[in-house]
Amino acid sequence: MKTEELNQAFKEIFGQKADATFFSPGRINLIGEHTDYNGGHVFPAAITLGTYGAARRRSDKKLRFYSANFKNAGIIDVELDSLVFNEADAWANYPKGVIKFLKEAGHTIDSGLELYVYGDIPNGSGLSSSASLELLAGIVLEELFELKLERLDLVKIGKQTENDFIGVNSGIMDQFAIGMGADKRAIYLDTNTLEYDLVPLDLSDNVIVIMNTNKRRELADSKYNERRSECEKAVEELSQLMTIKTLGELDEASFDEYAYAIKDGNRLKRARHAVFENKRTLKAKNALVSGNLKRFGRLMNASHVSLEHDYEVTGLELDTLVHAAWQQEGVLGARMTGAGFGGCSIAIVHKDKIKTFKDNVGKTYQEVVGYAPEFYIAEIASGSRVLTRK
Ligand code: GLA
Repeated sequence: MKTEELNQAFKEIFGQKADATFFSPGRINLIGEHTDYNGGHVFPAAITLGTYGAARRRSDKKLRFYSANFKNAGIIDVELDSLVFNEADAWANYPKGVIKFLKEAGHTIDSGLELYVYGDIPNGSGLSSSASLELLAGIVLEELFELKLERLDLVKIGKQTENDFIGVNSGIMDQFAIGMGADKRAIYLDTNTLEYDLVPLDLSDNVIVIMNTNKRRELADSKYNERRSECEKAVEELSQLMTIKTLGELDEASFDEYAYAIKDGNRLKRARHAVFENKRTLKAKNALVSGNLKRFGRLMNASHVSLEHDYEVTGLELDTLVHAAWQQEGVLGARMTGAGFGGCSIAIVHKDKIKTFKDNVGKTYQEVVGYAPEFYIAEIASGSRVLTRK
């Protein structure tokens, strides 16, 4: 969306000129799935699909929110002094949570605002539209109220909103990728220490194709929390024999040696995924850095296999896309991305083979699942940013 269109749309809804316009990306994760709440590594990147915003500061205490994606909801009105979760406020709960936690952290937000948003991340696709919106709200407040903030503060406030206001027990990957993203770079992040490297994403003649199952991840949240507790329980069991706080502290060999502490087959598989996926993420990062794209692709495939059979968070739709992608000429690797159960997969595809890739994978998916998937080419973008200011 162009900034002129954003300004125009803002004026139509709120009758005045916006003070500033903003963009906050979505994200894909190349590898390192379900490792962020296990103290492991992740390797995501921000993309050009995301959430646009235009905002104006008010002099009274009214907060007024409008989303072009939920036109029927109209303008959602909230008082600055009553920042509690309210189902009826729908998507506006995200900016509400961000404002609440910024205030609690001691930042002065003493008047209201108007916020117009429009997102082009496909709905329910698992490309992190919610973290994108949280970080958008964060930079809007930072700009309008001239807050003194480190970017990492906003990342943490985004996560806090997700965990303690919305009630999804997610890790820090999405907010970090969206807040800290950099053009043509993926972020190799240690979720335990928050140390990170921006790694050039040089894929030579290949592109990243996002494959959307068009299946919303409805059940995802309950299963997500279930996986988290399975891993926590496994850590508890392992702690009887060794001193660890997270599965991310283990390598494959020590896991193997102590795994007998885990008393349940499913938990053993969940923990094995977390340990192996973490180490696989390091291997994949190294393969990318040394230009070994074939190995990078194989490790992506291995990640999917582990998510399919050990972590069990894929399902027919994601598996159909990924298995079909593996069969295609010019594909280096493919895997699900994000929480799983629905949402998107990604594949690294040679640029001359994109058309046949989409045709073939699309056809198989249609036959097996009964409706069509969608494909987008992922372009890697920088993190949440101000587009125009007064
Ligand atoms: C969701 C969560 C992230 C992460 C992924 C799985 O996207 O928001 O924190 O746990 O699932 O890797």
